[in-house]
Amino acid sequence: MSDPKKLFIKTYGCQMNVYDSERMAEALGGKGYVQTDTADGADMILLNTCHIREKAAEKVYSDLGRLKPLKDLNPNLKIGVTGCVAQAEGQEIMRRSPLVDLVVGPQSYHRLPAMDDAIQTGAKALDTDFPEDDKFDTLKSRSKAKRGPTAFLTVQEGCDKFCAFCVVPYTRGAEVSRPADRVVREAQELVESGVREITLLGQNVNAYHGHEDGLAGLIWALNEVDGLERIRFTTSHPNDMDDALIEAHGSCSKLMPYLHLPVQSGSDKILKAMNRKHTAESYLKVIARIRDARPDILLSGDFIVGFPGETEADFEATLDLIRAVEYGQAYSFKYSTRPGTPAAEKPQLPDDVMDERLQRLQALLTEQQRDIQRSMVGREVDVLFEKKGRTEGQMIGKSQYLHATYADAPMDVLGQVRRVRITQSGTNSLGGELL
Ligand code: SAH
Ligand code: SF4
Ligand code: F3S
Repeated sequence: MSDPKKLFIKTYGCQMNVYDSERMAEALGGKGYVQTDTADGADMILLNTCHIREKAAEKVYSDLGRLKPLKDLNPNLKIGVTGCVAQAEGQEIMRRSPLVDLVVGPQSYHRLPAMDDAIQTGAKALDTDFPEDDKFDTLKSRSKAKRGPTAFLTVQEGCDKFCAFCVVPYTRGAEVSRPADRVVREAQELVESGVREITLLGQNVNAYHGHEDGLAGLIWALNEVDGLERIRFTTSHPNDMDDALIEAHGSCSKLMPYLHLPVQSGSDKILKAMNRKHTAESYLKVIARIRDARPDILLSGDFIVGFPGETEADFEATLDLIRAVEYGQAYSFKYSTRPGTPAAEKPQLPDDVMDERLQRLQALLTEQQRDIQRSMVGREVDVLFEKKGRTEGQMIGKSQYLHATYADAPMDVLGQVRRVRITQSGTNSLGGELL
C-alpha cells in the first residue's frame, strides 16, 4: 500500500468550524488522507475560514500567501479554502490567489472526496451551493477512533434572524435542524469513542426544531444516553429561550449550569437598529427566569461596541446591563463593517472612539469574571479531566461552570468527572485538590 497522504486543516472562527473540520478530515480519511498537525510536508492543506469580522476574513489571504513556498517545494500540494469566506467570496478567492485548487462552502463539504478526484487531475474545483442533498446523510457515521472526553455536535445550522451587522445568514443560509434521532445516534457514536461531554452547536441552537419539543426535547433525549455525562449548548438567541429550555436548566441533571446568551448591546435604540428584536429589559427578564430555575448558573455573553449610531449614552446603557447581569465569561468585539449587511450602509464611528469603549467594556467584564472565579475558592466543583497539566502529576479539565481547573491527580482521572475543592484562582484557571 502507498503511504497515507497527509492532510493539514487550519480552523478559524467558531466551534461550528471546529466540528466541520473534524467531519472534513473524516470524509477525506475515506480517500486515504491522515490528519497531521503541521503544514510542512502536507499533501493537502485546507483553510477552514471565518467571515464574521474583516480581520478574520483578510487573515485568510495573508495565510495563503505564506503557503506559496510550500507549493513551490511540492507542486503536488493541494490547497483548499473551506468555511464562511469560501461561501462568501468563492470566485474571488480563486482570482486573488492562484495557489488555491479548491473552494468549498460549509453546506457542500460532503462533496470533498469527489472534488479531490477532480483536483488530482490538475483541475480547479469550486462548490458554494446550498445543495438539496443533506451533507449529514452523505457523511453518515462518525469515526470509531478513540478520542478525548469532550466533543462538539452540530444540531442546527444557519440563521433566519438577520441582525443588521452579521454575515452568518448569508454564509450559512437558512435555519435547518437535524432530526433528533440522528443527533442521538451520533452522540452514541461519540460516547463509544470515549466522549463524556457533548456541546450541541447551532448558530441559533435554541431555535432547534428537529424534535417536537424543541431543543429541550433533544436535551432530554440525550439525557438518556448511557455514558454521556454532560450536555452543553451554544449559541442561543434571547428570543428563543422557551419555557421548556429554561425549566430543563433546573431539572435536567446532565445539562451543565452555564449559558452563553449574547445580547450585543444594552441600548434599546441600538438593539432596534441591530434588528435584534428584543430589548434590554426583555433580555434581563429571561436572565432572571433562568436564574430562578438554576440559581448557580454561570452566564456568558457577546457584545459589540461602536455599532453605527452608538452614542456615549447608548454605550453606558450596555455597561449598566453588564452590571445588572454579572457575567462569568464574555466575548466583546469592535463593530466591523461587513459588505452586504444592512449596517454597512450606515456612517461608521471613528476607530479611536470604538477602541476607547472596548477598553472600558473589557475592563468591567474582566473584573466580573475575576470576581466570579475568585468566589469559587473554598467551593467544591465537579471537574471532567481532559488532559495532563503543565507540571508533573497535574491534570486539567473543566468544572461544570466551564472554568479550566487543575489538580494533582493520577492519570486514570482522564475522562472522569471528579470532585475537586478549589484552593486558588489564577488569571485564567482555578487550582484545587482532588477529593
Ligand atoms: N449566532 C450567534 C453568534 C454569531 S457570531 C448569536 O447570535 O449570538 C458571534 C459573535 O460575533 C456575535 O454574537 C457578535 O457579537 C459578533 N459579531 C457578529 N458580527 C459582527 C460584526 N460585524 N462586527 C463585530 N462583531 C460581530
Ligand atoms: Fe448573526 Fe444575529 Fe443570526 Fe446570531 S442571531 S448568527 S448575530 S444574524
Ligand atoms: Fe465565522 Fe462562519 Fe462561524 S463566519 S463565526 S465561521 S459561522
